Amino acid sequence: MTKLLLRALRGETLHTPPIWMMRQAGRYLPEYRATRAQAGDFLSLCYNPELAAEVTLQPIRRFGFDAAILFADILLVPQALGADLWFVTGEGPRLSTITSAEQVAQLKPVDEIHERLNPIYETVRILSRELPKETALIGFAGAPWTVATYMVAGRGTKDQGPAHAFKDADRVAFSALIDRITDATVEYLSRQIDAGAEVVKLFDSWAGSLKGRDFDDFAVTPAKRIIAALKERHPGVPVIAFPREAGDRYVGFAAATGADCVATDNSVSAEWVAANVQPEICVQGNMAPQHMVTGGPELVAEAQRITRALRNGPHVFNLGHGITPDADPNNVARMIDAVRSA
Ligand code: CP3
Repeated sequence: MTKLLLRALRGETLHTPPIWMMRQAGRYLPEYRATRAQAGDFLSLCYNPELAAEVTLQPIRRFGFDAAILFADILLVPQALGADLWFVTGEGPRLSTITSAEQVAQLKPVDEIHERLNPIYETVRILSRELPKETALIGFAGAPWTVATYMVAGRGTKDQGPAHAFKDADRVAFSALIDRITDATVEYLSRQIDAGAEVVKLFDSWAGSLKGRDFDDFAVTPAKRIIAALKERHPGVPVIAFPREAGDRYVGFAAATGADCVATDNSVSAEWVAANVQPEICVQGNMAPQHMVTGGPELVAEAQRITRALRNGPHVFNLGHGITPDADPNNVARMIDAVRSA
């Protein structure tokens, strides 16, 4: 029997959509916090295949999601390319910065990234052995623009100002950075697929700050190159693209990039997505993560409204962004019941 997620990604309309959740392994789960403490810190957890596989499996055991997402981080690729990376508790990631053509040229060649990333492929191998047979395994990487915003600024930023400044000051050098990340991402995702990932997702969390030609050059073109290379090497492995806050650029994104599914955030309504994106391609929608904190009858009503709005075409149920650490795990179980009984 084909896994529910793979059926939806191949374009099948299902009465009950497959369900998974961005950041489903995370700090809202006490068992995640315990395993992270055992590993020591977040990065040590990412690079420990047994423990990373364990935290990937925790939400599957607890909730029975239809898909597991590899536990890792989008910033492991910059680290593999030679950036320093560390996490400051309560603040988030820090990296050494890249702001010149010389620094771009000093990044490691793409064939050297695996040395650092091998433990991630081992996590995927463990998962493909240990997951229940009905659960699909999703690999992932950050999309080049989003990864570049962290590499240039050395941290998360509200408006991605430093990356925009580099792009506007030296478009050639910035494009070289995007190209290096693009090439690394192809190799990284390809190894994840070799190790057993059945689907891959590209997270472009900051796509919404790219406008006009910049959106074409730095969100569409890199995604198109990555997807074309993966399709050539691994025909039949579906790709989910998440150009977060793309707004009306969600329309046509699949046709422009070759993605098999477009994931949407909760700044657009499920009804808008049904009318404007789902006619072209499978969509992943889009409940506001805040409902996982607030719960109540609104949570049930919203989960059922989204499920029904997207029922007439291929749909993967998800949140519009990652679940937050203050979420109540009981609300996750309520959401799943609401979707499956809608
Ligand atoms: O979705 C999943 O559960 C899979 C694992 C995953 C993580 N990060 C684990 C993580 C995935 C797919 C990501 C993607 C990621 N990482 C993105 C793109 C998606 C998004 O959220 O916009 C980005 C921008 C990052 C970079 C990153 N990693 C930031 C900004 C932070 C700090 C913010 C935070 O939530 O603390 C992280 C840390 C991180 N990545 C955590 C987890 C579970 C929390 C770390 C901890 O345990 O303290």
